[in-house]
Amino acid sequence: PVPVVAIDGPSASGKGTVAARVAEALGYHCLDSGSLYRLVALAGIRGGLSFDDEAGLAAIAATLPARFADGRVFLAGEDVTDAIRSEEASGGASKVAALPAVRSALLDRQRDYRHAPGLVAEGRDMGSVIFPDAGTKIFLTATAEARAERRYKQLIEKGMAANMKSLLKDLQDRDARDAARTVAPLQKLPDAALLDTTEMDVEQAVGFVLDRVRS
Ligand code: CDP
Repeated sequence: PVPVVAIDGPSASGKGTVAARVAEALGYHCLDSGSLYRLVALAGIRGGLSFDDEAGLAAIAATLPARFADGRVFLAGEDVTDAIRSEEASGGASKVAALPAVRSALLDRQRDYRHAPGLVAEGRDMGSVIFPDAGTKIFLTATAEARAERRYKQLIEKGMAANMKSLLKDLQDRDARDAARTVAPLQKLPDAALLDTTEMDVEQAVGFVLDRVRS
């Protein structure tokens, strides 16, 4: 089967950056599964749906007109790369992600990313639900403070407004919601290698994953 590197972990742990760099080093495809939940949330907001409208959101998820190209994310042709990162879409993503019908509507779409020569998939349930047979499984994390600081820097670099206190609270709320939900809760499974990046830079984290893939 086509090899899969599954990288799961909490918000702003650096999974996205590490996954993209590992994919580049290996020449593999990359799946940012969180962006799918963000797109469903954004499309739901725009359609005036409530975040507890499970059937309506699942219908959106099943037919989501999403496209990924050159590091940009498109919804029905519109570039929504920044829009899906707004606080509203981020909070909405973790709410729609708790709905079982939304998760199952996105299952096949995620599995379709597995093509030769290989895939690096990042999210919350890559190693547990989507690609349980992945050859490499990593649980990538860092303390909430370190993660809030990283997100803060990212926002400032983009010239966006950021508040450290509210970022930390938002992360903790989202972590709590992701861990408490009944479907695909965020957790480190015994078969995943723990990668705590609190004291690591991107280079070191990428090196850790590549060592695992090659061993
Ligand atoms: O960038 P960040 O880690 O904050 O978020 P993300 O990976 O883009 O994911 C956004 C939300 O989607 C998370 O809060 C999760 O609730 C949800 N998600 C999920 O449930 N399962 C995944 N495989 C990926 C994301």
